[in-house]
Amino acid sequence: MALDIVILAAGQGTRMVSDLPKVLHTLAGKPLLGHVIDAAAALSPRSLSVVIGHGAERVRESMVASGANWVMQDRQLGTGHAVQQALPALGRDGVTLILYGDVPLVRESTLRELVAMAGQGPLALLTVELADPTGYGRVLRNQSGRVAAIVEHKDATPEQRELREVNSGIMAVPNAHLHAWLARLENSNAQREYYLTDIIAMAAQSGVGVEPLQAADEHEVAGVNNREQLATLERAYQQRRARELLLAGVTLRDPARFDLRGRLRHGRDVSIDINVIIEGEVELGSGVSIGANCVLRNARVGEGASIQPNSVIEDSDIGPGCSVGPFARLRPGTRMAEGAKIGNFVETKKATIGARSKISHLSYVGDALLGEDVNVGAGTITCNYDGVNKFQTTIGDGAFIGSNTALVAPVEVGRNATVGAGSVLTSAVPDEALAVARGKQRNVEGWKRPKKKS
Ligand code: UD1
Ligand code: CA
Repeated sequence: MALDIVILAAGQGTRMVSDLPKVLHTLAGKPLLGHVIDAAAALSPRSLSVVIGHGAERVRESMVASGANWVMQDRQLGTGHAVQQALPALGRDGVTLILYGDVPLVRESTLRELVAMAGQGPLALLTVELADPTGYGRVLRNQSGRVAAIVEHKDATPEQRELREVNSGIMAVPNAHLHAWLARLENSNAQREYYLTDIIAMAAQSGVGVEPLQAADEHEVAGVNNREQLATLERAYQQRRARELLLAGVTLRDPARFDLRGRLRHGRDVSIDINVIIEGEVELGSGVSIGANCVLRNARVGEGASIQPNSVIEDSDIGPGCSVGPFARLRPGTRMAEGAKIGNFVETKKATIGARSKISHLSYVGDALLGEDVNVGAGTITCNYDGVNKFQTTIGDGAFIGSNTALVAPVEVGRNATVGAGSVLTSAVPDEALAVARGKQRNVEGWKRPKKKS
């Protein structure tokens, strides 16, 4: 069945108290509107329109990759007026699904159900029972229990305000009627707005009928009006994700202290300690363990690898059986082969580290290519930058770099070469050789330290 989708996102969002348009505030690292667009796109609609107004340029620019059809609503004269702006994009047949840019957690399965209901003829309306329905439009039912109308909170009588069943705002409407109904909207109400919700009574009276679908979970239909609600929905989202992971066999030491801001793929028996943040695309092989307070962004971690507490890993590829941290920082382009080790207070960038090689303490290794079984001593620095250009350091298999060595790139250390501690290397070291590049020690016997005159 042909499906058109309209997302309303022109409102200001005053209560966010923000310079950023409301729908660009992020939930789980993604703009609110991004969540809604993704849910919409999953239904493969014939058209997808987003009605924008406040902060339109910024919204459009940030979401341009979505390929949505952007519709301007210059003045926000109400939800009905907003849908009217999108009418030219809607077909005459099929169904239009109306979504809200600030209702981010709506489930794809619920939307499919709603669309299928409207495909049978009636207007399908997503409702929810709320303990505190203040502010929402109330669903009015007639004596036989059928939905008859929606009355906005501001227009409702005290008795109507007692009703707990509210309009989520989300609905699927047969296109054959939508055009005509929208044309009949008036703004003779408390807010002088063109209410989309007035088409409910039109559907009920015309015999098309209204079919309600009750959302199972109130977070699914909750809107974000302020940052408190945003925080609540962030937690609800994270709980959903954490639960899925637990049931899929991932140990989360505390599901309330885990944040997924992207996609996590995992093998069996992965274990994640508290306060771990996963961003972008992350893949954890079987048996991987992640210590407390780690951030992983776009990373692949091979089977059995261990990431110890307080490590930050970005755009990196960590081989099976590797060990990282505690307190390690892997910047983009770090590649560790099987069994390699990066220890505490080590920073790497664009560094390929061969199998079983170790950089155990307090080092910076950038723009470097390390072979297998290399040992990099504490305090080793690749001096990769002369203030203008970056240069490469290459270290052969089995080389041993003494502590506190400065490798002034471009420089090459041969296979099985040894570099004495404290060296400043400025030229190549041949295979199997020892390089010592530091001042020679001189001892002065019986040396007396200077004394202060009293
Ligand atoms: C609306 C519903 C109400 C429902 C509630 C659920 C109407 C008249 N009322 O009320 O029944 O219970 O949502 O949250 O529809 N928008 C535009 N252009 C406009 C006005 C609004 O794009 O001219 C967008 C807003 O950006 C927002 C959405 O529509 O995303 C809802 O608008 P809002 O003003 O928040 O409606 P409510 O008063 O909450
Ligand atoms: Ca609202």
